[in-house]
Amino acid sequence: MTTTYSPTSTAAWAQLEQQAIHAKHETISDYFAQDNNRVSQLSVQSGELFLDFSKNLISQKTWQALLALAAESPLNAHRAAMFSGDVINNTESRAVLHAALRAESGDQPGSEADQRVALVKQQLEGVKQVSDKIRSGNWLGSTGKAITDVINIGIGGSDLGPKLACSALQEFAHPDINLHFISNVDGAEILSLLKMLNPETTLIALASKTFTTQETLLNAKTARDWFANTLGLKNAQSSRHFVGLTANRENALAYGIPDAQILEFAEWVGGRYSLWSSIGLSIAIAIGYDKFKDMLAGAREMDLHFQEAPAEKNMPVVLALLGIWYNNFLGAQSTAVIPYCERLLLLPSYLQQLDMESNGKSVTRDGQSVGYDTGAILWGQTGTNGQHAFFQLLHQGTRLVPIDFIAAAVDHLSNDEHHRVLLGNMLAQSSALMFGQSAPDEEPHRYYAGNKPSNVLLLKTLSAKNFGALIALYEHKVFVQGSIWNINSFDQWGVELGKKMANALLADDADNKAPMDASTAALFAYIDACD
Ligand code: F6P
Repeated sequence: MTTTYSPTSTAAWAQLEQQAIHAKHETISDYFAQDNNRVSQLSVQSGELFLDFSKNLISQKTWQALLALAAESPLNAHRAAMFSGDVINNTESRAVLHAALRAESGDQPGSEADQRVALVKQQLEGVKQVSDKIRSGNWLGSTGKAITDVINIGIGGSDLGPKLACSALQEFAHPDINLHFISNVDGAEILSLLKMLNPETTLIALASKTFTTQETLLNAKTARDWFANTLGLKNAQSSRHFVGLTANRENALAYGIPDAQILEFAEWVGGRYSLWSSIGLSIAIAIGYDKFKDMLAGAREMDLHFQEAPAEKNMPVVLALLGIWYNNFLGAQSTAVIPYCERLLLLPSYLQQLDMESNGKSVTRDGQSVGYDTGAILWGQTGTNGQHAFFQLLHQGTRLVPIDFIAAAVDHLSNDEHHRVLLGNMLAQSSALMFGQSAPDEEPHRYYAGNKPSNVLLLKTLSAKNFGALIALYEHKVFVQGSIWNINSFDQWGVELGKKMANALLADDADNKAPMDASTAALFAYIDACD
């Protein structure tokens, strides 16, 4: 990897700075008026995903400069390095191979790639066997009863992806098995859930890449106590009520999970990219292993598209470049993802980890301070709900917020009347944000400036395959931005300090206890006084 590259030193960057000055006097509606082919030029199809990015504040000249930025960046070499298994996560000395979880033999050349495909196949076979057994009622709890409830205990990547997938793909859910997700160390969550469940028919999927995460281990302990108190199971973690999903078999074994109940995945799968691995067990239980494989197939289709499509018709590259334009040249601080589909309610939360944990960085891959903005703040909510909440700010506020609208063109769970209204609202918003509306001088509060950019991403249906492609699309978008910004998108050192501090504050022994600042000491004293 080049060490001298900086995006700001490229010719394209300077050109984009010039374009940003012009853009202040241009409008998206003018671009449409000047070019009849704008939609066909500025749209992309990949499988059953269609992206219309014509309603962006980009002239043809800007678009060409953005493509030039991608060409001048290390993107192509970096992408090849990732797919071929080079150690691109330099601060953790790891390869980044989540795409190998959905690859097929021959996708990448070489015997190492074949070995990886074989390893993944073997590990996913475990997911198939366990999920089939649970779904068919053949996985029995300690009193001989079939499983009706599965609690995935995990946090971050060991929670968000599986939870989103189970919600998004509920159309295919097993009728008699309920999936639950416990992530927060807030005891009210797990204690309230356990009250509603029967321990005889409950299985804990203990999901943790490292098997060291404080929140997950405390929630697991509470679940173990529950089994002990209700069923008299002293070591529930060693019973048929627990399975371990991890990249650290040793830690899971030391915790007491039986070897045969550990579903392992490789160290080169980053936590926030792990839903495709055995961390996805809850997805396979919910929708069946075949549908889980469909999800992987959709992601693979996006992997191939990302590797093969030319930049101007490459969906992840397109989304990434648009993000960079708004972030680095037009001063946008945030970006919104607004699905018009209630089953995708959790998508913004999922993308917050994917994007902000990956690209919220201020040093380059070479350890230099970046001299430009990196990851934007990502937020969102479903439409139409958002329309009755924060859309006021999008239409008339002072901030520039580029938006990704996402919807399924056809929804088998809805009906024509509802779906037409839902999609009509989404397209109306996208158009209204672009056009705005004039107002009489005496009524400035009715004025809509317009010229607010948005993408519209349509999935033909919310199938498992298309859902997989959607998630892989955003994974690669984040990768492209990280490549252009020359940052390591695959570490997360920024979460360590807070973890360390919490441990030190909570330590019982004086040796490990952290000295408290005055504010923290006063707040602890206040909390104790309330007890
Ligand atoms: O928050 C940091 C983090 O390491 C995430 O990257 C990860 O997804 C999460 O914690 C959970 O980690 P684990 O799966 O090891 O419990």
